[in-house]
Amino acid sequence: MTQDELKALVGQAATAYVQPGSVIGVGTGSTANYFIDALGRMKPGVAGAVASSERTAERLRGLGIRVLDANDVSSLAVYIDGADEIDHQGCMIKGGGGALTREKIVADLAERFVCIADESKLVQTLGRFALPVEVIPIARALVTRRLRSMGGEAVLREGFVTDNGCLILDVHGLTISDPAAVEREISQWPGVVTTGVFARNRASVCLLGTPGGVRTITF
Ligand code: A5P
Repeated sequence: MTQDELKALVGQAATAYVQPGSVIGVGTGSTANYFIDALGRMKPGVAGAVASSERTAERLRGLGIRVLDANDVSSLAVYIDGADEIDHQGCMIKGGGGALTREKIVADLAERFVCIADESKLVQTLGRFALPVEVIPIARALVTRRLRSMGGEAVLREGFVTDNGCLILDVHGLTISDPAAVEREISQWPGVVTTGVFARNRASVCLLGTPGGVRTITF
């Protein structure tokens, strides 16, 4: 099976976690896109969705799914999204698509985070995938130096501006053996909007696409 077929498989499987008539949170990325397409086929469908990016909102609307503002929702039963890496505790690196801040906000509104990923995303320790960190432009150099002092080489994502008008630093060379501590530390630096470490908002369930089918991991 190709990686895309595995993504499609878990995208479809995630609809089992969606209560018809509810309002859900929807992530961003190629795996999330397969889920959105499956959501569009669900009958009866959802009452609406809070999107984690402009791209996702557009795709949802294109399928006739109502998009709600996060400010108009006090909680969501479930948030469904992909990941760049996920470890055996459900902690993740996210933000390869640059949507990490809104993803973390929508995930925080949800009681449950269902991560959908092909099996290549499951890792022992986070950090091989460069960690995205969203920063306010004026803090780019300051945050780059701080990251270097903790052993990471930050590379500016050229020509990319987030939905929030900010920049992304992709940080290479970190071995994140304590995701919660790394998330706490980087998040408190002035100028950092969000770090792509999702430990506080880790997954409750991961639907992992494997050639043998969907493997469900509960954390
Ligand atoms: C978007 O900013 C990301 O967090 C994605 O959820 C993550 O990069 C996974 O993307 P793919 O499903 O495209 O691999």
